[in-house]
Amino acid sequence: MLFWRVKPLDKILETAEKKSLKRQLGAFQLTMLGIGAIIGTGIFVLTAEAGQKAGPAMMIAFIIAAIVCGLAALAYAELASMVPVSGSAYTYTYGVLGEGLAWTVGWALVLEYAIAAGAVAVGWSGYVNGLLASAGMGLPLPLRAGPLDGGSFNLLAFLISLVVTGLLVIGTSKSAKVNAVLVLIKVAALTAFIAIAVPAAQDANFEPFFPTGWGSPLGGVGVLGAAASIFFAYVGFDAVSTAAEETKNPNRNIPIGLIGSLGVCTLFYLLVGYGAVGSVGSQPMMGPDGMALHPGSPELAAACQGSEALVCSREPLAHVLRVLGFANWGNAIGIAAGLALPSVILMMIYGQTRIFFTMSRDGLLPERLSKVHPRFHTPHVITMITGVFVAAFAALFPVGILADISNSGTLFAFVMVSAAVMILRVQQPNRPRPFRTPLVWIVCPLAVAGCLLLFLNLSGYTLSMFFGWAAIGLVIYFLYGYRRSHLAPGNRDATPTPRIDPEPPFHEGPQA
Ligand code: ALA
Repeated sequence: MLFWRVKPLDKILETAEKKSLKRQLGAFQLTMLGIGAIIGTGIFVLTAEAGQKAGPAMMIAFIIAAIVCGLAALAYAELASMVPVSGSAYTYTYGVLGEGLAWTVGWALVLEYAIAAGAVAVGWSGYVNGLLASAGMGLPLPLRAGPLDGGSFNLLAFLISLVVTGLLVIGTSKSAKVNAVLVLIKVAALTAFIAIAVPAAQDANFEPFFPTGWGSPLGGVGVLGAAASIFFAYVGFDAVSTAAEETKNPNRNIPIGLIGSLGVCTLFYLLVGYGAVGSVGSQPMMGPDGMALHPGSPELAAACQGSEALVCSREPLAHVLRVLGFANWGNAIGIAAGLALPSVILMMIYGQTRIFFTMSRDGLLPERLSKVHPRFHTPHVITMITGVFVAAFAALFPVGILADISNSGTLFAFVMVSAAVMILRVQQPNRPRPFRTPLVWIVCPLAVAGCLLLFLNLSGYTLSMFFGWAAIGLVIYFLYGYRRSHLAPGNRDATPTPRIDPEPPFHEGPQA
């Protein structure tokens, strides 16, 4: 059946851009690359959401999410090193599981990248609104958040998405130097937070430790629900996996880079979580039925009106420091987040255009979309379409809902990638693997199980959005991609002499 047609890996490698990157990254650079890509809105903003879902037990959620990410990252790295081409999980799935599933993964990656960009934009707006308010220049309340979050239109989130899109259209990319500076800013901000908040911790704030229990499938709360949300805080580690091709001695350095960056971030996150919970408390807002209110729900927004609780804050780390009497340090954290988060938005929108570009190169989306700007040499059409959607979502939805929807797409893609690793080990055992997943028959099944566990602990609302999106995607596939695919009978790659695509006309972009 054509749904299952695969694009042979050799053809993928042949038609992909020819990159010949020098192997120069060592374990330390990889770890820095990972930390730069990982730390973002998740820890700066979703700490409040994790508190609402799990109370003080959010610290356990941080550990669970880190373990699942570590397992998925080890699987991801094997494919990234074997098929070092753009399109990531979409491309790997095309080569192993067939076009239909690849389309579904590519479609889910829209959630991972575009919706995540929206989430980070909303997170950024929370901090910048807080800074403006503390300087006495706050925007009117309806313009500080979307309609589900106690406002009407999140103006700053809307604007930053459009500004970043404009930068991408004119070809801005992030240099390694800028990355190093931003890593420093983020790490310094978290370190300052830890130094102030941890000594202020009081035992009483940890009681009750498990106010919402472990949670239940589709429940979206409890420790597992919090882990499914805070998973967002670790997304980005794939920057290490995809750097496999540029890494010296990848078999040794990739796992060190992955586990190192995840380990460092986990340690920071735990200390930040401990400081936030211990110093000001993080008990969830409960509804009349004694259950925790859902993050992103109008009920929670109403309960939070005028509340100083951590779980209600849109800038929780700055908020904690202000409550503790360190207003200037709170503002400094706000400035750090304000400076560092736009680069995460840039990376996410960039990643999205890359996926669309690859899908349209395969014929699954119209080629018009990947038209390249004559002067800027960027895929401006798809960048602008993506940017407008990101801006609209950022203006209207709360950060927690966007992050959860993004996680659903990412978790789905990771399940597919982990499955693809196992299938390829059986089907093509002799294909060169610059990096081999250690203990593959333990790591990959556990990665699949861990991602499914988190996926199922997202809320029913999130999963209905995921499946609705997947259904729309399948309709589009059968109306368009199924026939237009370059692998469809009579189309170009189905003929005996495959045409080699030209190099992609835009340069290799921001690398985290
Ligand atoms: N891990 C990234 C963040 O938290 C996506 O913003």
